[in-house]
Amino acid sequence: MKTEILLLLICLGAVTALTRKQEAAEQSRRRVASATTPKKQEPEEEYEDDEELVDQCPEPNGYFPDAEQCDKYYDCRDGKITDKLCPDGLVFNDFSPQHEKCDLPFGIDCTKRSKLQKPQPSPHCPRMHGYFAHEDPRNCNTFYYCVEGKFNMITCPEGLVFSEKTGICNWPDEAQKKGCGSRELFNFTCPKVNESVAATHPRYPDTEDCQYFYVCVNGEIPRRSGCKLGQAFDERSGKCDWARKIPECKDWYKDQLTDEELDALENPPPKLKSTSGPSRRKSSRPTV
Ligand SMILES: *[C@@H]1O[C@H](CO)[C@@H](O)[C@H](O)[C@H]1NC(C)=O
Ligand SMILES: *[C@@H]1O[C@H](CO)[C@@H](O)[C@H](O)[C@H]1NC(C)=O
Repeated sequence: MKTEILLLLICLGAVTALTRKQEAAEQSRRRVASATTPKKQEPEEEYEDDEELVDQCPEPNGYFPDAEQCDKYYDCRDGKITDKLCPDGLVFNDFSPQHEKCDLPFGIDCTKRSKLQKPQPSPHCPRMHGYFAHEDPRNCNTFYYCVEGKFNMITCPEGLVFSEKTGICNWPDEAQKKGCGSRELFNFTCPKVNESVAATHPRYPDTEDCQYFYVCVNGEIPRRSGCKLGQAFDERSGKCDWARKIPECKDWYKDQLTDEELDALENPPPKLKSTSGPSRRKSSRPTV
């Protein structure tokens, strides 16, 4: 009699385990299914306050993302599960179950687990960590870098716009920030050209500022770009050259630089033998 009951219990246990496995399989299948049908619009941010009952580790050891909340994850040790939460503004990077890593959300796919913890805002920081756009939507090129709820204001290089989606400064046509398109920003429209000219990404001077010019990408999308200090855009060659060599711009730097300073820029004194490695001349500007 006793053995029968024991057997029955074992059987019941096995059945429960099986159903759980099936449920888990079902869940992962669902996840895969939804992965193949990406939603068009961005899902609304949802805040997760309820404690969810997840009581099973997918593997005995490792760190595993929550199925719905991007900044929540599970720490599994010998099958024992502990709920964990990333610092506000960071999300769990699920690249490997061996690593416990919370990162800024850029480049981490949270579309399937779009919920987030309740924000802990402070001045200029909608969340404790991250890159955030200026509160004034007309301000296109300053943003805040927040760490532990403390902000640093940063300004993008000339001609670029802060993109909240990527957390970096980019060309207005790439950043696609509302009210900060090329037209609003530059008041410059690319002249109509034929296909062969368009393919050369033609350049046009900024009529207000000798140092700057516009590149019309594919003849259509204007990007504002600049020459280095002391130089100006030469409409004839379509290149930057020393301002003093370009008749319309020869006095452009008059109020800013002395002739000696311009001489030094044009003919830099020979450098002593460089002891540091390769020069760091990489521009912070994305290339066209
Ligand atoms: C844009 O340029 C046009 C023509 O040069 C000028 O009439 C207009 O006032 C400018 N608008 C702004 C907002 O600067
Ligand atoms: C395109 O325009 C340029 C300049 O206006 C002209 O020299 C060229 O012949 C044109 N090419 C074609 C294919 O129409």
